[in-house]
Amino acid sequence: MKTTRLTVTERPVETIDSDLLIYCVAEEKNKPPLCDHFIKDPVEKAFDLKDFSGKAEEQLMFYPSSVSAEENIKARRILVMGMGKIEKEKDFSKTVDLLREIGGNMAKACKKTKAKTITVCLPAIQTLGPEKTAECFAEGMLLGDYRFLKYKEISKKKGDYAGLKMIRFSCTNSVNSTRKGVKKGVVAARAACEARDMANEPGNGWTSREFADYAKILAQTHGLTYTCLEKKDMKKLGMGGILAVNQGSAIPPRMVILEYKPEKKSDTILLVGKGITFDSGGISIKPSSGMEEMKYDMCGGAAVLATMQAVGEEKPSVGVVAVIPATDNMSGSSAVRPGDIIRHFNGVTSEIVNTDAEGRMILADALAYGIKTFTPDCVVDIATLTGAVVVGLGHHYSGLISNNDKLTDRLICAGKDAGEPLWRLPLTKEYKKQIESKVADIKNVGGRWGGTITAAAYLSNFIDKTPWAHLDIAGTAWDFTEKSYIPKGPSGIGVRTFLNLIRDWKKGGLA
Ligand code: BES
Ligand code: ZN
Ligand code: ZN
Repeated sequence: MKTTRLTVTERPVETIDSDLLIYCVAEEKNKPPLCDHFIKDPVEKAFDLKDFSGKAEEQLMFYPSSVSAEENIKARRILVMGMGKIEKEKDFSKTVDLLREIGGNMAKACKKTKAKTITVCLPAIQTLGPEKTAECFAEGMLLGDYRFLKYKEISKKKGDYAGLKMIRFSCTNSVNSTRKGVKKGVVAARAACEARDMANEPGNGWTSREFADYAKILAQTHGLTYTCLEKKDMKKLGMGGILAVNQGSAIPPRMVILEYKPEKKSDTILLVGKGITFDSGGISIKPSSGMEEMKYDMCGGAAVLATMQAVGEEKPSVGVVAVIPATDNMSGSSAVRPGDIIRHFNGVTSEIVNTDAEGRMILADALAYGIKTFTPDCVVDIATLTGAVVVGLGHHYSGLISNNDKLTDRLICAGKDAGEPLWRLPLTKEYKKQIESKVADIKNVGGRWGGTITAAAYLSNFIDKTPWAHLDIAGTAWDFTEKSYIPKGPSGIGVRTFLNLIRDWKKGGLA
């Protein structure tokens, strides 16, 4: 991944050499936006001509020599961006998202002018304070500046614009809080961008091995504990779900585990992510049109692994364990057949009616194993699990199903603040009945209706009494609501929601 340098400086902004100097101004009632003396003149002129009033998405570009020669501003261009009205009563998460969007718009403006080095004058946003303001801008800018160029050889040779190299935040006071905020935004955005990178890799570029290798490096870099269960371990442990899904593949499965333990005794959050590196459907093969998108079926696993990168960097006060069951779902000659019966890690047997409902099969073993091994205080799994969730919620909300109201509230808040909204669906016994099998304990599909919930009903057999939440991100892992900081393609969803949950966790969190 490309890394952009970010710094916070107290140097007078006119002395900083950069491709673009950015100011953000808020819209006022019937008067020009309040702004720095360097830009006051042109902003007021533009206001009088009704060209610019500071509305969100409005932009005004000009060139220093045309502003005032004696000021001698070193930057080559000046961009004034409107922020709209910043109202006191506005929902916290809405203001936060607005600033992230402005950050994303800055990245877009940089692309237009091919700016590589920029200086941003941070505005004072009373409702958020300098730390949160800086965090949102940094996060939005890095998320919005994301691009995946690894395989673009021709474009690299041509020297096409490859994004921002250097971002300087200029501020005259609250330097320490600003630095803290920038750091938080950078950690979150970089982790989400790592998840996007993993997802952008094709099925032949990101396999169970790459999941394991990445986790191993994270462990070495940040002092996390790394474990990888190989096929032989899975056989010994009786992980019939992941083994069955892997039967039709030439690439061995892996259960990748990373543990972060804080110094002081604390709660433990277990995160489990679906790591299907390509989902062909297996013998119940998918239609060929659009099948290439099934390389994204590992986005849950990517979110969990990338979260561990942020955890490793920030070392929060709560323990976090990540488990990623990883394999592709192929239809080789020894593939699992519809009608086969398997036995999961916890002894529950399952009739495999549809080999395309493979996500729940690998998650079942991972959940039961993770809970038995780590006795966590709560577990959250995340998966591109069902097409049904896209039918129900479209591309704007991820589905949430849980056995615990407090954990649900926590996650909904965390998601809202991250701009990754969640919508809870019910899970009652009627849905569990839909997956009863005549020949085994359960079956892996529950009929045509309520597919997202019957998938969760399947998982509910593997969590014991642990507070649990399941996030179905099939509609949001890619093609998520388009925003300036959410590009087309994989969104990195889940990472920043998890990070909010972790950062805000208090000991005895669910008590
Ligand atoms: N990976 C898919 C779910 C999916 C579909 C994700 C579309 C993103 C977009 C999953 O493994 C799957 O195939 N689920 C089936 C389940 C069915 C067979 C019960 C589905 O949703 O059709
Ligand atoms: Zn499938
Ligand atoms: Zn799948």
